[in-house]
Amino acid sequence: ASQRSYTIAVLPGDGIGLEVMPPALRCLEAAAARFGFQLEFRSYPWASCTYYLEHGKMLPDDWKVHLQACDAIYFGAVGDPATVPDHVSLWGSILTFRREFDQYINLRPCRLIPGVTSPLANREGKPIDFVTVRENTEGEYSSIGGKIFEGTDRETVIQNTVFTRTGVDRVVRYAFELARRRPAKKLTSATKSNGISITMPYWDERVAEIGKEYPEVTVEKYHIDILCAHFVQRPHTFDVVVGSKLFGDILSDLGPACTGTIGIAPSANLNPSANRADRGKEWFPSLFEPVHGSAPDIAGKGIANPIGMIWAGQMMLDYLGEKDAAEAVMRAIESVLATAKDAQMQGGADLLTPDMRGKGTTEGLGSAIEKEIRG
Ligand code: NAI
Ligand code: MG
Repeated sequence: ASQRSYTIAVLPGDGIGLEVMPPALRCLEAAAARFGFQLEFRSYPWASCTYYLEHGKMLPDDWKVHLQACDAIYFGAVGDPATVPDHVSLWGSILTFRREFDQYINLRPCRLIPGVTSPLANREGKPIDFVTVRENTEGEYSSIGGKIFEGTDRETVIQNTVFTRTGVDRVVRYAFELARRRPAKKLTSATKSNGISITMPYWDERVAEIGKEYPEVTVEKYHIDILCAHFVQRPHTFDVVVGSKLFGDILSDLGPACTGTIGIAPSANLNPSANRADRGKEWFPSLFEPVHGSAPDIAGKGIANPIGMIWAGQMMLDYLGEKDAAEAVMRAIESVLATAKDAQMQGGADLLTPDMRGKGTTEGLGSAIEKEIRG
């Protein structure tokens, strides 16, 4: 029988990206060994500020060939604002990948994991477990617009929002499909049709239209302002939340923030319509990364939380179809966190990193999860 095998492009990037990547790769190796498949990691130094300082660009000219030869991209974090401006480093790497590979879905699970303290009070017995689905290619972040009469009293600045039927429909449909497969079967749409009177009513219209194909999914919509309040006041009531690029951006940071530290939050940039069998032709690989950035304030100290990186790897395994392995990685994260919390309270070895109010290290926490995955 032929063995299942996947080629993964590994781009650690800068700062703590370089620190959380090695333990995360060991966790994925452990899952592969246990569930009988192979992972070939191809590490690249580019998409980092270190590379930029040496070469004057973020990526080599043939970057696309390298990435398209892989089944998925595993990305750490990029950015070193002390040496390279963020708009150069981010636009020249992660944002280029998202655009060139048309990764039109940005997916972020938000779960309160036992052992992690939520900044929200009185959460006892009310689990938080929802996913934000953000449009990742168009909407409010368009380059259509400009500035005229610069420096005069008539100075005028315009930036247009772009909603295409293709762009709106594919993200809304993805969210419905996701909701349909989850037990709660509920979709919340972020809107602002009371204020943004052209594009947002259109968004609502498309959600209502596509919703007709999914009678089993309960749909609700809220204006973005009150929706933010609901995220804080009753996060346990959400299941799948879909939003445009701007609203999704806000919600996909607020969601993970409600479940504790940014250090554990993962995300996926997906092109779900790409087919892996097309590799080499029009194959657009998807990218998996932690939500956090390169954290220059703690880089080099060995105390970065590796869980965001590991959990992003878990999403990658799930995407590759290795469901059992993905499940095992998730269980390992949960069990190590729960045990670590107990140990900390009993004065034992502290595995929790400082962002989780502990004294642990990247290595210590990463190794504990790796061991747990090996079983
Ligand atoms: P950041 O996420 O790097 O850090 C924000 C705060 O969270 C810092 O106090 C940091 O110490 C803490 N933190 C982040 N990840 C952590 C972890 N795993 N464990 C423990 N603590 C953690 O965001 P910031 O400071 O705004 O940006 C730093 C650099 O990262 C900038 O150059 C920025 O452009 C870049 N960035 C890159 C992203 C990416 O690669 N996708 C995403 C966000 C920021
Ligand atoms: Mg954001």
